[in-house]
Amino acid sequence: MVRIAQIGLGAWGKNLLRNFYNLDGCRLTIAADSNDSTISKYEASYPGVYFTTDIDLVFDKSKVDAIVIATPPATHFGLAYRALQSGLDVFVEKPLVLDVDEGERLVETASENNRILMVGHIMEYHPATEYLKRIIADGELGDIYYLYSIRVNLGKVREIENSLWSFAPHDISMINYLLGSYPTKASADGQSYLQDGIEDVVFVTLHYPQKIIANIHVSWLDPQKDRKLTVVGSRKMAVFNDTEPSEKIRIFDKGVDTIQDYQTYAEYLSLRTGDIVIPKIPAGEPLMKECAHFIKCVETREKPRSDGGDGLRVLKVLDAAQKSLERGGEPQNIE
Ligand SMILES: NC(=O)c1ccc[n+]([C@@H]2O[C@H](COP(=O)([O-])OP(=O)(O)OC[C@H]3O[C@@H](n4cnc5c(N)ncnc54)[C@H](O)[C@@H]3O)[C@@H](O)[C@H]2O)c1
Repeated sequence: MVRIAQIGLGAWGKNLLRNFYNLDGCRLTIAADSNDSTISKYEASYPGVYFTTDIDLVFDKSKVDAIVIATPPATHFGLAYRALQSGLDVFVEKPLVLDVDEGERLVETASENNRILMVGHIMEYHPATEYLKRIIADGELGDIYYLYSIRVNLGKVREIENSLWSFAPHDISMINYLLGSYPTKASADGQSYLQDGIEDVVFVTLHYPQKIIANIHVSWLDPQKDRKLTVVGSRKMAVFNDTEPSEKIRIFDKGVDTIQDYQTYAEYLSLRTGDIVIPKIPAGEPLMKECAHFIKCVETREKPRSDGGDGLRVLKVLDAAQKSLERGGEPQNIE
């Protein structure tokens, strides 16, 4: 039985609290938050959990095996580093940290201490993403040409990280996972309207190997909630609409074919518009699957799907996109 302590019980932390509390194979022993009034909201609903504002308690190896960090990103490095040094396995919410050097130090520290370090890249655990990954790998879509993702709403405006750092980890981790490769170049443009220097809207373009291009549009200043990924392949095209309650994926048998006998170039290219298929996606709450994966990795010592290395690769893309944002959209190479 894995003993879990959670730190950070805010807007997202409460979802992790519910999942880890109800999950088989682990026992949530301590839940900590620096804000007293936040703690008092949950105490009655979670009997058996010790709620505290004393942050030091979550690092006590005699009472805890693994820690879940759901505090603001600027605090992730200090808390995760201390936990790894204390011999605890760590689940940290996205983004891993806000600085590449700090990300590298965390990955090294986890490895030196033989600890599990997992990042909350929830889209990698989404059943629809898993389905898309399978059909891309099976070649159903053909060669992947390009992808674009939109993640916008009128939502929580952050004061430290901009919309790029707040939202795009989801899209970058999902696209990296789907393609099984990493971008080599990033450019980004965006604008701050509500607070100086904190971009409310950002458009990122990523270049992957094999001429694949991906565009990501993120914003917390938008009239509608939209979460959609479109994948255009040489054989078929797919749309993953995460705001749809059930029919999340549509596969379009659409494309451009070439024919042998032709007189003009227009004849050479023939448009194909075939069936639209809505596949049945296996049920499962992505967050519950993500939490269960962490517990399994702690028990088996298996490398998490979204391990520290995965978090670091996403961080390097964010860092390159941020530099581009600051340099008027100038493309930045990614190591
Ligand atoms: N996976 C997702 O879909 C998703 C969605 C939203 C947020 N997140 C991530 O979850 C994390 C938390 O975001 P949120 O929206 O819940 O933020 P939030 O501001 O609502 O909550 C943060 C909580 O942490 C507490 N806190 C702050 N510093 C602390 C410290 N040093 N020690 C103990 N407690 C501390 C605050 O009191 C607050 O209760 C962020 O990393 C964010 O990016 C993930």
